[in-house]
Amino acid sequence: MALFNEENIFIVTGASSGIGKAVAKKLIEENAKVLAIARNSERLQLLERECSKPKNLFIETTDLTEHLVDMPSYLNFLKSKYGKFSGLAYCAGYIMLKPALTTEYEESLNLFNINYFAPVMMIKSFMDKRICIGKGASAVAVASATAFLREKGLCIYSGTKAALQVSLATIAKEVASKGMRVNTVSPSDIKTPMTMNDDMLNLRQGREKTYPFGFGEPNDVAEIVVFLLSNKAKWLTGHDYIIDCASF
Ligand SMILES: NC(=O)c1ccc[n+]([C@@H]2O[C@H](COP(=O)([O-])OP(=O)(O)OC[C@H]3O[C@@H](n4cnc5c(N)ncnc54)[C@H](OP(=O)(O)O)[C@@H]3O)[C@@H](O)[C@H]2O)c1
Repeated sequence: MALFNEENIFIVTGASSGIGKAVAKKLIEENAKVLAIARNSERLQLLERECSKPKNLFIETTDLTEHLVDMPSYLNFLKSKYGKFSGLAYCAGYIMLKPALTTEYEESLNLFNINYFAPVMMIKSFMDKRICIGKGASAVAVASATAFLREKGLCIYSGTKAALQVSLATIAKEVASKGMRVNTVSPSDIKTPMTMNDDMLNLRQGREKTYPFGFGEPNDVAEIVVFLLSNKAKWLTGHDYIIDCASF
């Protein structure tokens, strides 16, 4: 039996690529409706062509960092267009691989804006009963295993993800009494355009050999995210789930 029905509509950010795209497809396979958000409309339209039920997919093209100060009104705008949301999967973001010594403030702030401030502002705004369904609502954000691996070159990126884990667990405590849940997932290396480009592969040569089952696929993350969004995970909140086969 499917996990959801067509009454359930989920926001998925980062839906034009990689992990977010896999989450959007999986939610639709499980009978839910999806509001897919990203900047690139061509890639969102490709998702529409590839997903199993295109009529259950809705698209909004935006740069999430433009809503940092008005996130409640942006979510209110989305609610008035699509109705109250059952859940939110925050999968937008990017990586900055650079030695700490050459890292500048402005690029660090830009990374924090999309990887930390946007998900925190979006999820705390989502957890308003005027925006989400209230009891049973669930939000999941993609953090990263780098938050605990302490890898060279990922000083700021890892910081955005460690901060995200802590802040979302704090929001989880604040909303638990209303029956709403918030979790993060922390994958290690997953094969997406973010990691499979020439720069990243050259800089991290030989890395895949350290993974007994090879690098992960976007679907390995999507399965866990969709489970956490569903009522099957009704007892789970405030935690980070490591998705990995190498760092145990
Ligand atoms: N791949 C991995 O190994 C891995 C491991 C751990 C954690 N993660 C995390 O997982 C998340 C997704 O990564 P991915 O590997 O799936 O990367 P990806 O394939 O490059 O996808 C990133 C997504 O984020 C969206 N995005 C980026 N900046 C945005 C902005 N300002 N406003 C709106 N959307 C924006 C992109 O869409 P547009 O370009 O269309 O806007 C795209 O859909 C990231 O937070 C990443 O840190 C990835």
